[in-house]
Amino acid sequence: MSNNRFIQAAFCKKTDRVPVWLMRQAGRYMKEYQALRSKYSFLELCKIPEQATKVTMLPVDLLDVDAAILFSDILIPIEAMGLSLDFTEKGPQFANPVRNNSDLKRLSIPNPEEKVPFVMETIRFVKKELNGKIPLIGFSGAPFTLMSYMVEGKGSADLKVTKQMLYQNPELAHNILEKTTQTTINYLNAQIQAGAEAIQIFDTWAGLLAYDDFINFSLKYIQKVISGLNRENIPIIIFAKGSGVFYRELLTTGADVISLDWSANIVKIKQEYGNNKAVQGNLDPYSLYVDQTSIRRNVKRLLDSMKSFDGYIFNLGHGILQDIPFDNVRYLVDCVKELGVYDRN
Ligand code: CP3
Repeated sequence: MSNNRFIQAAFCKKTDRVPVWLMRQAGRYMKEYQALRSKYSFLELCKIPEQATKVTMLPVDLLDVDAAILFSDILIPIEAMGLSLDFTEKGPQFANPVRNNSDLKRLSIPNPEEKVPFVMETIRFVKKELNGKIPLIGFSGAPFTLMSYMVEGKGSADLKVTKQMLYQNPELAHNILEKTTQTTINYLNAQIQAGAEAIQIFDTWAGLLAYDDFINFSLKYIQKVISGLNRENIPIIIFAKGSGVFYRELLTTGADVISLDWSANIVKIKQEYGNNKAVQGNLDPYSLYVDQTSIRRNVKRLLDSMKSFDGYIFNLGHGILQDIPFDNVRYLVDCVKELGVYDRN
């Protein structure tokens, strides 16, 4: 691989500079993405390998980042389990949420090559396009975050219905999580087999849980997923909003990298682990709404605080928002490349 900084940093190896990629690096803030979206729905873009490949490559070509991430969505394998998925103005929607045992019984553990072959085909196409230039990250949701969409039927700020299930019918919740965990293991192994060189697991909503519930309903299943992966030399990154609270637990799962949001003390966490675990993050995406002088200052501050460590990957604390100016994102990446060079003297 001609640029292997991202993988090296994920394993806490020395690199010439801090690697950079951005969550949601392919998306609506790019006019090229919007042009494709005027012709295809979001799900069509995910499901037509030629189009998903084009979108995956946009940030590689336009931002020159150090890693590509598969263009898809965490809810694709959930649709394959048997829930009918739609993306509307209000975000993802499932018409038939899972609320009881018979809802759960209807769901299958899909064979990825049969039910979502387009994902693996996209990975193979992207690898051909990348031609060894930079690594490709595959991904999935974590079982708890996936379960929350399955139960709520849509995004939710407080997970009210999900929490009612955890407290009233924990057995049903565990059964949903088991099925989702098995689906996720098969799905990620298929991505690895198709050529994904790193895996990020998104547990976006785990931070809303009470501590004991986080251990029982989130952490345990992340651990199961990671231990089910066939993954020699494939680093695993775990992301959760609020992971600054649960980072120690999340790093017992076998993950190599923790992706932190902006509320975490990234320096302190990295100090605690030294070269045993890598960290990724954690610039506040909202800091990209300001002028470039201010962006540079904020990037420099974060890099200066992290540059005494190996095993640091620059990223945002969460995804790029759709109305952030493209030029600011491009400028951010350029700043990291300029200011993130290690001084090894
Ligand atoms: O990071 C990347 O560039 C790779 C692609 C990617 C998308 N979604 C594309 C997307 C990845 C890794 C995801 C993960 C994802 N999807 C998560 C976990 C990460 C996170 O953001 O917390 C979650 C919770 C989802 C579910 C999801 N997908 C929601 C809630 C939404 C609607 C909100 C929104 O931003 O519109 C989506 C839609 C979505 N996923 C878009 C993209 C580019 C926008 C779709 C469009 O073009 O209209």
